Parts: sequence; structure tokens; C-alpha cells
Amino acid sequence: STAVPFHGKHQPGITVAPQACGHLIAFDLAPGADRKAAAALLRRWTGTAERLAAGRTTTDDTGIALDAGPSSLTVTFGFGRTFFDRTGLEKQRPASLDPLPDFSSDALDADRSNGDLWVRIGADDALVAFHALRALQKDAADTARVRWQMNGFNRSSGATAEPMTTRNLMGQVDGTRNPRPEDEDFDERIFVPDGGGAKDPAWMAGGSYAVVRRIRMLLDDWDGLSVGDQEQVIGRRKSDGSPLTGGSETTLPDLEARDADGRPVIAANAHARVAAPETNGGAAMLRRPFSFHDGYDEKGAPDAGLLFICWQADPLRGFVPVQRKLDRGDALSAFIRHEASGLYAVPGGCAPGEYVGQRLLE
Ligand code: HEM
Repeated sequence: STAVPFHGKHQPGITVAPQACGHLIAFDLAPGADRKAAAALLRRWTGTAERLAAGRTTTDDTGIALDAGPSSLTVTFGFGRTFFDRTGLEKQRPASLDPLPDFSSDALDADRSNGDLWVRIGADDALVAFHALRALQKDAADTARVRWQMNGFNRSSGATAEPMTTRNLMGQVDGTRNPRPEDEDFDERIFVPDGGGAKDPAWMAGGSYAVVRRIRMLLDDWDGLSVGDQEQVIGRRKSDGSPLTGGSETTLPDLEARDADGRPVIAANAHARVAAPETNGGAAMLRRPFSFHDGYDEKGAPDAGLLFICWQADPLRGFVPVQRKLDRGDALSAFIRHEASGLYAVPGGCAPGEYVGQRLLE
């Protein structure tokens, strides 16, 4: 099965094609764990991640993934705002980790938000993903404790006749208008430049900022809408993701188009209009979510939705302005609830012999 290279300018797991299984885990440093202990942990974690990504075992391996290849496994490490206070590295804290603003529609659970360290595991096989999770958790030992964990999934490769953009649990084709690595300004939008950006410390060169939101979908309400009404909420067709103004999935939406009565074909509050870079001064991010389903709540409604992850070089030119706008006027708002939030500085990748975060921690 496919191996995703671990080493490189950027960490793996950012531009990788959506994987079938994901675990997001935040850790808090244990009381007394200092910068040295954190550095030793990142060294252990890096060693484990590079072995498993190549399909090798760890010492003391649990055997969970013995028969499988790497299955596109990636492990990505990030630092939360509180990491820097705990390790005496306040001066190295990026300004981009300033807390996200409050949004009026937030219903955030602090216990499932933030955290000192964040790990994203993705793989195309559930046993391979769990194997990595277990190995990393053991590496954390007495240095860091799990603060929260979320598990997600995407379509498995091979499920559709042709590879296609995945769907979310509302049934929409989701991910169409993501920036693409071949776009001229992709690196500039998604990654901190060499030497660090104007507002970034040098250790963030080649890194990116991840915004993570556990977004509950109110699926019983959503499923009560007709398909036509659902399409109005997004501004795209459910069947193939094409804009309501016609064409195929990749046709650009015509935001100016009006119907015979002079009303905009893509409604003023349609999600795809309100979120579009064209209506946000060019703000853009790479959205790489997983779906989740954690059973049912006390009212019998599915506890399901989107583990929204977006990547950008600067959260103030990506997530923040777009979410501010969505918060005010997105037709989708009535059908979703943001329940947890995290913002992490994800350093650049490392070369063989180095560990992730070394430039910060040494
Ligand atoms: C586009 C669904 C939350 C930002 C879309 C599309 C769908 C969708 C179906 C159209 C297809 C595509 O271009 O991918 C959802 C659902 C959400 C959600 C179900 C919550 C459960 C968010 C959030 C943000 C966001 C929180 C950012 C703050 C965007 C952007 C686009 C988009 C930037 C592309 C717009 C364009 O360039 O035309 N979303 N979205 N979405 N969404 Fe969301």
C-alpha cells in the first residue's frame, strides 16, 4: 500500500489526499514536564512517525498493523498557544496563535478545545491509524496526557468508480473549491515562507497554522429539507456539486446571475457565496476535514458532523475573516453548531536525523 514520505520541507498530512480514517488528539504536558522533556517527546514521536509511515514497526510494537503496509499513514504535529508558557518559550510564540475571536454561533466545550500539543493521524486503513495512535500515546508516557481525542473518516478509495471529491454527512460534495497545489499562490496562502513570514518566528519556516473545529450537523433538521432547499443553502447541486448557475463540479459559480424575477440564482446567504474568496478579500484556506459520528445524544439525534480542519499561512487571512462572515449571514448556520475549537502552529517538516519542532526546542 502507498507510503507517504515523512521527511520534507513541510510535514506530511497537509496536502495529502483525504484519507479514509483520522484521529485528532490533543495532549497537555504533564505537571513538571519542561522544554527538555517536550523536546525528548518530539524526538520519540518523530522516530515513531517516520518508522510507521514507512510501514516498519516500533520497538515494543503492539502488532496491530503487522499485516498491512503503510496505507498512506501520515502523522502531523502542532503546538497550541499554552505550550509556550509551559515550556518557557513565550518569546517564540507566533502572534498567529492569539486566541480566535468569539463567534456568535459558538457553543464551545473547553475540555474538547485547544491543548498544548496536537497530533493529526490519517491513514487509509483503520487498524493502521489506530496502531499509530496507540504507539504515539505510549511514547507520551509521563510527559504528556491526552486532553481530547476525536475520530473521523472519509470515503475509502475504491468506493466510487472514478476518484471523486468526497461527500460530507449532509450528502454534499465537499472540497471542490479548495486551493490546489498547482495554483501559483498556493504555497504563499498555505505555508509560512522560508525564514518565517513578517509576523512569524523563524522556526515556523515551511510550517502552517491549523484551525480545528468540531462542527455538529443538526442532521434531523437538515434531512427535513427538500433537496431543492438544501441546494439553495449551499448554492450547489447535491447530485454532482455543480454550481446552481450551471456547468459541472469544477465550473466557476456565476455570483452575478439572476433568475427571471431578478433574484440571485445563488442566494445572498448561500454558503458557497458567503465563504468564497471573491467575497472575502481573497481570504482562502485549504479545507481538509474528516466526518465524525459518535453515537446519539440524549434526545436521540446523531452526534455527527464535520471535524473541520483548515490550513493557512495566516489564520487572520484564512479562517477568521471567512468564519466572521459566515457567522453573520450563512444559510448553513441553522443546521450546524461549532462545539470545539483549536488553533495550532504546525512547524515545517524535518530532514532525516532531525525531529519535528527541533528549531523551536533546541
Ligand atoms: C465550500 C460545506 C463549514 C469555508 C463549501 C461547499 C460545501 C461546504 C458543500 C461547496 C463545495 C466546495 O467548494 O467545497 C460545509 C459544511 C460545513 C462547512 C457542511 C460545516 C459543517 C465551513 C467553515 C468554513 C468553510 C467553518 C470556514 C470558516 C468554505 C470555503 C468554501 C466552502 C472557503 C469554498 C467557497 C468557494 O471558494 O467558492 N463548504 N462547509 N466552510 N466552505 Fe464550507
